[in-house]
Amino acid sequence: MSRFGSYMRDRAGWDKYLKPFLEKPLLGNLDWSLTLGSVLAILFVVEALTGMVLAMYYNPSPEYAYQSINYIMDDVFMGRILRGIHHWGAGAMVILVVIHLITTFFYGAYKAPREFTWVIGVFLFIVTLGFGFTGYLLPWDQKAYWATVVGTSIAKDVPFIGEFITKMLRGGAEVSALTLTRFYAVHMLILPALLAVGIVVHIYLVRVHDIAGHWTSEKSKEGKTARFYPDQVFNGAIAFILVFAVIILMSIFVDPPLENVALTPEPDYLPRPDWYFMWLYKLLTFFPGDLEFIGTLVIPVGGVLILFLLPFFNRMKNRSPADRPIAIAVGIAIIVGVVYANLIGMADSQTYGDVVVVPDRQLTQTEMKGARIWVEKDCSYCHSVLGRGGRRGHGPDLSNVIAKGRTREWLIASVKDPQLVSEWNIMPKYENTEEELNVLTDYMLSLDLKKYGMKIIPREEIAKGTETEK
Ligand code: HEC
Repeated sequence: MSRFGSYMRDRAGWDKYLKPFLEKPLLGNLDWSLTLGSVLAILFVVEALTGMVLAMYYNPSPEYAYQSINYIMDDVFMGRILRGIHHWGAGAMVILVVIHLITTFFYGAYKAPREFTWVIGVFLFIVTLGFGFTGYLLPWDQKAYWATVVGTSIAKDVPFIGEFITKMLRGGAEVSALTLTRFYAVHMLILPALLAVGIVVHIYLVRVHDIAGHWTSEKSKEGKTARFYPDQVFNGAIAFILVFAVIILMSIFVDPPLENVALTPEPDYLPRPDWYFMWLYKLLTFFPGDLEFIGTLVIPVGGVLILFLLPFFNRMKNRSPADRPIAIAVGIAIIVGVVYANLIGMADSQTYGDVVVVPDRQLTQTEMKGARIWVEKDCSYCHSVLGRGGRRGHGPDLSNVIAKGRTREWLIASVKDPQLVSEWNIMPKYENTEEELNVLTDYMLSLDLKKYGMKIIPREEIAKGTETEK
């Protein structure tokens, strides 16, 4: 080693601190799940770096926020990719932090002496979700705006101080310019500081108490030669490269979503949260009215508390899943529940019935009447027209009745008795008058959208017609 080399090594404290830190021998049975933490830490650095560049172009004001996103996408060199990496990287962090949490749970790695490694980990998980929630508002598009309106109003359910919390989150009564600057400051100053400190403490604790690893690894402590460097670092690097490759591909081929600018009037606009909050959103629909607070507060806050306190419930040190059937069963039930609520949330939040599709021409009187019956009978509960207005997946899209050569008689017969068409049909029988069935069919036959193009009319407008005519 050159004299300069040993000089630098001495000044950097190589022998005393860095070498033991890097070359620390680890427990046996290191598997790939144990690289998740390192991948997350590096992803945070990626998010920080891309965020710094994005911040140079982004303008946190309602007038310019949306424009500045467009500017980044269209005019900034590599801006599209940069925003893509930031967006998809954030999604990857949420997924990986959840997987990290789940494996730690199933490995029983939260048990003594690692209680506080777990507690800090749960804190990091929540901060990561906080990044998602605050980052969501920044593009100031419809989705951003409405998700924030809905998200911040949830706090209103807190007893006594709910209104105050919501106001504090928004920086006023409404979601406004003050909300945007507030979220921006939290997103790029406060949360990164919290996450950075949390990561340092987390890693420190992991080193103090060692990686727990697989529940069998403590038994096989002896004779293992794996070291942090190079073995674990190498695995971590491979895992990161794989994850990052996916993020890059996503950034190249899929633009992060950007809807119309906030507050664009769109009659059929349905505010929806991002996918990883979907289950929470779905939860709200299980508790309507006065019970809403169970979905908004009791379950989420209770869930977080239980997560934090998990290591203190049961002091049994045994980590093997076979020895803790209740914890494992509850864990699996929660995971299945969340995934299920998320899936039906994503399927259901498809609006239906808020708009009616009509051909882009003057409708005749009877076609208009038919459209009204369509609305009254809620046919859109199962049928969409050219993908709009209805729920998909229940009944066929009715934009192609013409293409299928359906005749008036056939259509009337199939609405009157759908089981004639197919005996397994779940469509209810409609006992309308002959006249009503006729106009309904007029409306369906008017949907020759190839010929006329389509027009979208809000449901209210169709329903209103009733009164003016009566
Ligand atoms: C509960 C769900 C449901 C509702 C509500 C419903 N449908 Fe259906 N409908 C279906 C299903 C499912 C089929 C497909 C039957 C099959 O393929 O055998 C169908 C088929 C049809 C067809 C035949 C389409 C074709 O060309 O094959 C027409 C026409 C139709 N529905 C009209 C209506 C009208 C009009 C209403 C409202 C008055 C309505 N449906 C309400 C589920 C529904």
